Amino acid sequence: MSTYPIPTLTTNNVKRKKVTTHTLRAMKHANQVISVLTAYDYPTALAMDQAEIEVILVGDSLGMVVLGYANTLPVTMADMLHHCKAVSRGAQYALLVGDMPFMSYQVSTEAAVRNAGRFLQEAGMDAVKLEGGSERLNAIRAIISSGIPVMGHLGLTPQSVHMLGGFRPQGRDASAAQALFEDAILLQEAGCFSLVLESVPARLARYISEHLEIPTIGIGAGGGCDGQVLVTHDLLGLFERFTPKFVKKYASLYQEMAKAFSAYKSEVEGHIFPAEEHSVDMPDSEWECFIERINHAE
Ligand code: KIV
Repeated sequence: MSTYPIPTLTTNNVKRKKVTTHTLRAMKHANQVISVLTAYDYPTALAMDQAEIEVILVGDSLGMVVLGYANTLPVTMADMLHHCKAVSRGAQYALLVGDMPFMSYQVSTEAAVRNAGRFLQEAGMDAVKLEGGSERLNAIRAIISSGIPVMGHLGLTPQSVHMLGGFRPQGRDASAAQALFEDAILLQEAGCFSLVLESVPARLARYISEHLEIPTIGIGAGGGCDGQVLVTHDLLGLFERFTPKFVKKYASLYQEMAKAFSAYKSEVEGHIFPAEEHSVDMPDSEWECFIERINHAE
């Protein structure tokens, strides 16, 4: 556990502490489950902070659920920084993790460090996440030695969708499971503070979680991880294109949104909106003065 003081923030007289990487490690060791969600904008980050979500991940899932791409590959550093800035203006308690986009850390170690630094220096993030195992160790070590906490990501790594042959579960045979476990150990040894396990068998995720000191965060990896993450647009039912099997929908906001837009259109067409209470008033005396001025000017 850290001996460094954790800043105490106060909202509505309720004292809350900023979540740090140390908090997550302590939660794992106290058997407290960690809740993680993705966010891409200010109001969502505010609502998550209010719900006391421990970690907000500005995921590159942004590309699919907000920007409308078929996968995460077209997402750029500029896209990520833009949305990270909005999230960091909304959340003051959650640990904020920025997802490094495709090609921002694969080309060279120097570029990986420089791009990781931009998430903290320009966009208010506390840490970065990147995908991959042994092939990413140099980049991960270099980023961490610059003082930037790194969250790893193994299993279904969407930036490798073309190598994996689609968005499919990983680690389902003995040798793939062994490779995944060994990668998890390597990431821990490299200094990652936490590890996302995506779309891997539940019993493998539990085994890895039990053998790591750092917390695992599962998505489609069963209940044996130290924490859970979902893409918020899936959880809210805002992304209708497809829903992975492992998602639980807690709302159907796309349908609600479509209903609200239709109601608005029919009220505009029926001259029901705007009503008097939505309009700005003007004193009669000023109105009369205005008409008089216009008439004199003619
Ligand atoms: O981009 C993302 O949202 C992610 C989560 C699914 C872990 O990587």
